[in-house]
Amino acid sequence: MSQSDSSSTGAKQYSSLEELFSVMKRMSDDPLAKAGTNIVISRGNPKAKLLIIGEAPGPEENIQGKPFVGRAGQMLDKILQAANFDPEQDVYITNSVFRMPPGEDGKNFRKPTDTETDFYRPYVFEIIRLIDPFVMLLTGNVASYSILRKTGITSLRGKWTELQGRWIMPIFHPSYLLRNPSKEPGSPKAQMWDDIREVRKKYDELTGKTAAS
Ligand code: URA
Repeated sequence: MSQSDSSSTGAKQYSSLEELFSVMKRMSDDPLAKAGTNIVISRGNPKAKLLIIGEAPGPEENIQGKPFVGRAGQMLDKILQAANFDPEQDVYITNSVFRMPPGEDGKNFRKPTDTETDFYRPYVFEIIRLIDPFVMLLTGNVASYSILRKTGITSLRGKWTELQGRWIMPIFHPSYLLRNPSKEPGSPKAQMWDDIREVRKKYDELTGKTAAS
């Protein structure tokens, strides 16, 4: 991909993920710094051609320092595996916000605000530029807002947008599927299986693979 994504956000560009992450880990001027929660950036294979962007770390992610390692992460891995993606090899996973937003009681967590999401956005775009994926999945409204400036996941999900040579699809957030476990036709879970099959097709097309082995 020749065109730089981060140029569209006016973000500073880094020469490597290592350089970017070392700056991010030292961040102290971000809107969630005062919350005192940890910087959680990514997991998976930095050479992967499939990039998944979530919302924000939760309590388990805050402890382990990796995104999607709690219940939502287990659900995400199951979805990926259902389409023959290896979550460690085929995928790179990050978030829209890099610290857990603490809840009112200081213990639980809440959804990030648009202001918080906007602050971290240039870093997300810099991760995208450095990973250089063919396909990106945005889980839920926060990631769709961060990358596409759009919300309304029920109508956005399953639809491709091509942006700067990358294919982007919003999908339901795995936590939403945990809250809606029905597999009936037309249910969010059934729609997610349809979406991930489409993702597999597009990925195979773009990476020149034949049917998933
Ligand atoms: N939900 C997210 O969106 N990201 C995580 O890292 C964990 C749960």
